[in-house]
Amino acid sequence: MCGIVAYIGHREAYPIILKGLKRLEYRGYDSAGVALVNNGLNVYKKKGRVAELEESVVGKDLHSNIGIGHTRWATHGEPSDRNAHPHVSANGKLAMIHNGIIENYAQLKKDLQNKGYQFKSDTDTEVLLNFIEDIQRNNQCTLEEALRIALKRVTGAYVIVLIDAEHPDTLIAARKGSPLVIGVGKGEHFLASDASPIIEYTKEVVYVNDYELAILRGDELILKNLGNEKLTPYIQKLDLELAAIEKGGYDHFMLKEIFEQPDTIFDCLRGRLDATAGTITMSGVQNYLEQLVNAPRIIIIACGTSWHAGLVAEYVIEELCRIPVEVEYASEFRYRNPIVRKGDVIIAISQSGETADTIVAIEKAKEQGAIIFGILNVVGSSIARISHAGAYTHAGPEIGVASTKAFTAQLVVLTMVALKIAHAKKSISEELYSTLLKELHEVPGKAATILKDTDAIKKIAEKYKDAANALYLGRGYNFPIALEGALKLKEISYIHAEGYPAAEMKHGPIALVDASLSVYFVATKDTYYEKVVSNIQEIKARKGKVIAVISEGDETIGPMADDVMIIPEAHEIVAPMLSVIPLQLLSYYTGVARGLDVDKPRNLAKSVTVE
Ligand code: AGP
Ligand code: GLU
Repeated sequence: MCGIVAYIGHREAYPIILKGLKRLEYRGYDSAGVALVNNGLNVYKKKGRVAELEESVVGKDLHSNIGIGHTRWATHGEPSDRNAHPHVSANGKLAMIHNGIIENYAQLKKDLQNKGYQFKSDTDTEVLLNFIEDIQRNNQCTLEEALRIALKRVTGAYVIVLIDAEHPDTLIAARKGSPLVIGVGKGEHFLASDASPIIEYTKEVVYVNDYELAILRGDELILKNLGNEKLTPYIQKLDLELAAIEKGGYDHFMLKEIFEQPDTIFDCLRGRLDATAGTITMSGVQNYLEQLVNAPRIIIIACGTSWHAGLVAEYVIEELCRIPVEVEYASEFRYRNPIVRKGDVIIAISQSGETADTIVAIEKAKEQGAIIFGILNVVGSSIARISHAGAYTHAGPEIGVASTKAFTAQLVVLTMVALKIAHAKKSISEELYSTLLKELHEVPGKAATILKDTDAIKKIAEKYKDAANALYLGRGYNFPIALEGALKLKEISYIHAEGYPAAEMKHGPIALVDASLSVYFVATKDTYYEKVVSNIQEIKARKGKVIAVISEGDETIGPMADDVMIIPEAHEIVAPMLSVIPLQLLSYYTGVARGLDVDKPRNLAKSVTVE
């Protein structure tokens, strides 16, 4: 889901494309490549940074007035030179770049292989490209027509740009679900994932919509739909500055990533959850389903926010699968002499897939015969490579140091894994299984509802921004969310905050409560609700300030609390994916109110690759 740049016009294409790819580096990627047309295709691509690609092409034929460039965020096929884009069709005439996921690529690949096609990469992209070539060959049609036919038969998300060595005067692009912007110049056109590579050349842009095709020549822009009807391009004037574009118009990456969550949760479910059919399709789980179902024990190993996701998973897996679960801090597990028996399943959770403590802890467990199942956001990361199986969170690159969209995506994947195991074990009723699939299906929409109006949360953040301390309390599935909320406040606003099981207050921490203490409750309607209400009363009786995340329609806690943050009602098992969002926003707005660098908090690194 990363970066695309293309050019056609009167200038040299390569310098424009390379500079554009550098403008898109902020989006995170693992490899880069460029294809140019000069008496045939010249394709240069490699794993690693754009600068490394630049070095590798010195002295090569870089002349062309047409070209396509790509920064890859791997989803199918680990980061490598051969999996990098652009890909070239079997007949050597077409080159293509792609952002997104082709969900039905496996069947398409099998059909093409049966026709004798061979593949140079493991990507879904190359499958789509050869599918297009095959259609063009069979139908003896234009490339544009072949693309239209192909796109009616693929499912998933894509922005694609094609060049044809036999027609070096034309770029063809299409989009569904991933962003694509056309820059309209004088005798030249630009294509990019956002306006940042374009803005220095032209401020006139056309935003391509889903199911639209763009056919671009130096002096011609044709927009069509998949039905081959011409559309009138809506040319807009860019009024954003470069910095703002990189953040998608948000002030910070953290805010952008919080607001991306309806989409990233949808992407996480995409191609996996079918609530209507009552199915969850996860090949990584399917291939190890027997071992997961028969696991005598599951040990979850992680750090930080990922550890909090593991704690939620403990409650969910034990409730649904009736398998004993232990959640371990990787840094503790690796230095202990832990007992790991053959057949134990280790679930390793990591956004970056590079956390040193988690890597060493997993290797230690693997040596003792455990099966390693990775829940990761970075394809081909170190932990992905040492895991036996796994499931990617597909949250896209997370740039803000504080983990937000990756966390909710972890919860979604872990819940789907638990549901698949429980369904296979028959440890869950058909009714609850069906209910939870529908609940999962509704999470993206409910997350969007929370994000529709965040002013109330911003006001709460500003009201309590000077607090010296804070307590976060929750019970059951929301106890890990209390811990996560406290971590977010600590790492973003530098206010000391502690998360606790709400009932634990009476065993000491309640001594802290007085009128100066802000106590945040995660108090959504669930099995523990009545008990949490009592805990709120205990705090109020001691003059503590109570701020509560509550369910829509809750008329009990509202009058009791000093402030509330309201979220849509949801089943308690999926509620954590939603109850965490107000707490993410609270920490963000508190950090901003305190004038702090919320994307790069002091002392923190995005990935702790040291011990
Ligand atoms: C979370 O906001 C922090 N950035 C940190 O706790 C992080 O979750 C932890 O370092 C684990 O990182 P990982 O998920 O990449 O392994
Ligand atoms: N799914 C494609 C791949 O894995 C494209 C990934 C991207 O969006 O960069 O190569």
